[in-house]
Amino acid sequence: MQVTAPLQLYEPVAYSLEGGGKRIRPVLMLHAASLFSEHPETLFPAATAIELFHNFTLLHDDIMDHASIRRGLPAVHLKYGQNSAILSGDAMSIMAFRYLSRCKVSEPAPLLNLFSTTALEVCEGQQYDMEFEKRDQVSITEYLAMIRLKTAVLIACSLKMGAMLAGADEKSCRLLYDFGILTGIAFQLQDDWLDVYGEENSFGKQIGGDICENKKTYILLKAIEMSDQKTRSHLQEWMGRKNFDQKEKIEAVRKIFTESGASAATRTLMKEYHDLALESLQQLRIEDSSKKELREFAAKVLSREK
Ligand code: IPE
Ligand code: IPE
Ligand code: MG
Ligand code: MG
Ligand code: MG
Repeated sequence: MQVTAPLQLYEPVAYSLEGGGKRIRPVLMLHAASLFSEHPETLFPAATAIELFHNFTLLHDDIMDHASIRRGLPAVHLKYGQNSAILSGDAMSIMAFRYLSRCKVSEPAPLLNLFSTTALEVCEGQQYDMEFEKRDQVSITEYLAMIRLKTAVLIACSLKMGAMLAGADEKSCRLLYDFGILTGIAFQLQDDWLDVYGEENSFGKQIGGDICENKKTYILLKAIEMSDQKTRSHLQEWMGRKNFDQKEKIEAVRKIFTESGASAATRTLMKEYHDLALESLQQLRIEDSSKKELREFAAKVLSREK
């Protein structure tokens, strides 16, 4: 990527985009489009818009989560400073809308409406995520609504937009959106699980970050629900501590997650969302063999290590 002045604004953008990432959202958009048309030329700007927007959310998310590593590299706010991460993030979000405006479609309003609604929903999800850190009581329903907003809607939007750009009918667009929501929820459940049990080298993020930040993940909520009184108090005591050794807290909480059965419960729920996702894919009225990539994606969500 060619970096122009002011370098302090655009270098972090290049650093973020060139730092890798799985690119699942643009890839899903391409898969969705290919189900309905061979040459959706309008796809490139939309796919770029989605990936730019996703990367923008990561710049701000790492500040909010006090995260130091992203994709195995120093997070943007550590490498370039917090102000740069904020402003370069803002620029990326604006660039995303500029890319979207380059889609050659006869009626751009529905596309713009979907993208801006999704973008706002992501902000809503991120707000709930932060509020939940400070709350003692969060229900599983609230947690699921939060991850739907912060993560699943952007994955769903990628699929739906791909279908829309390829001229799919409304029902197909809706089914692909539903598939995206359900796999997106499984995707975030796995992300939360990997934050506890993953390998830093493959995951590319610091393991245990969510535990240190008291994130109200499903695994934590289940551990509270499934533990005996004594273990529950022990867990709550860790969460109430202001000063702690990170390694010690992570190890103690991880042990409770495993022994309470919360880890296994998380894997079970993930599988349930995977199965529901396949059901909505099945309802899609297209040749079954052409759904192969999407089925593979749904399976990969459960086994991914990064
Ligand atoms: C990270 O998304 C943020 C979440 C929604 C969990 P990805 O796991 O898709 O991040 P990259 O782009 O591949 O690094
Ligand atoms: C991701 O949630 C949601 C967004 C970035 C919008 P996380 O905070 O769990 O994502 P990671 O783990 O930092 O990638
Ligand atoms: Mg984060
Ligand atoms: Mg976060
Ligand atoms: Mg995470």
